[in-house]
Amino acid sequence: MKINGKAYRTIWVNEDQWSVTVIDQTKLPHEFETLRIASADDAARAIKDMIVRGAPLIGATAAYGLCMALREDASDAALEAAYAMLAETRPTAINLKWALDAMVDAVKPLPARERVAAAYARAAKICDDDVEICRRIGVQGVGLIRAIADKKSGGVVNVLTHCNAGWLACVDWGTALAPIYMAHDEGIKIHVWVDETRPRNQGASLTAFELGRHGVAHTIIPDNAGGHLMQHGQVDMCIVGTDRTTARGDVANKIGTYLKALAAHDNGVPFYVALPYTTIDWTLDDGVAEIPIEQRSAREVTHMTGRTDKGAIETIEISAPGSGAANYGFDVTPARLVTGLITERGVTPATREGLLSLYPEHKNAG
Ligand code: MRU
Repeated sequence: MKINGKAYRTIWVNEDQWSVTVIDQTKLPHEFETLRIASADDAARAIKDMIVRGAPLIGATAAYGLCMALREDASDAALEAAYAMLAETRPTAINLKWALDAMVDAVKPLPARERVAAAYARAAKICDDDVEICRRIGVQGVGLIRAIADKKSGGVVNVLTHCNAGWLACVDWGTALAPIYMAHDEGIKIHVWVDETRPRNQGASLTAFELGRHGVAHTIIPDNAGGHLMQHGQVDMCIVGTDRTTARGDVANKIGTYLKALAAHDNGVPFYVALPYTTIDWTLDDGVAEIPIEQRSAREVTHMTGRTDKGAIETIEISAPGSGAANYGFDVTPARLVTGLITERGVTPATREGLLSLYPEHKNAG
């Protein structure tokens, strides 16, 4: 993805060959700032404070956090302590655990003196693989958009998305947005309805930023507007990301996704979820009962940060002082409301059989 003509990933190793830099997503869209991460503690803070966010990027950042912990102390005890600290930063996205497990698998069998180099190599591979996986999700998903464009004889395809499952949530490309970027690059006329995604506004601030930089036509809508647009035939399809997908195809994604899926179901609008295999939790079935849902600070609901007309970035209180607020970060959309899962291996129904047809190596999982 290019910012002001320069190609960026969302995370990269610095010239010193050991620290990493990330884009500070809490500053977007008004300021493009980067932040150096130089310890496992820095990585944990960046994930917790949502300087980096989005399931795949959380995993990649944690992987480098583990590298930095090993650089200071490559013992088993240090590895376990860093794993535990990074794993508890955010509870819902399973990519975090996946990435940390992949790191441990790569370094644990090695003697301490070989662990640091092996860790950095594994973290780099996690990032490179994520880019390629997201590119493939794009290739798999663009066919769905093309089919609608053909049906509309080249008319504009209107896609609704929730939260940010784009380049900023991954290392490059994105999951839900990858097919959209590919459709745009192919010359398909596409327009994206961007749910603002309260309370942190990842849609209004991040998805809109990304789409705008890439030249994709889009309109930010309040989270409550999608149902109305669907009733009036203004949404051809929904594509969202996911932070954890169960073996039977239930998907946890940013709070509010479930309501969009209900509205899509009621209006016969196809509802697709895009995901890399690293987001599948083969140990779980019933997402509503089993996926842990992150609860965040009430202040994210009662306050908002933005740019004033005078150009200052300020945080203001938007609710009645003294009132409490609940802040559930995610909800679960049952598989029956999902038209299909767009993965790097193909598009499949949101069922156990569908997922196993793409990932037969997990036949005995559970
Ligand atoms: O709380 P966030 O911003 O990390 O939540 C992110 C989302 O819900 C995304 O839609 C999801 O991670 C998919 S990212 C490819």
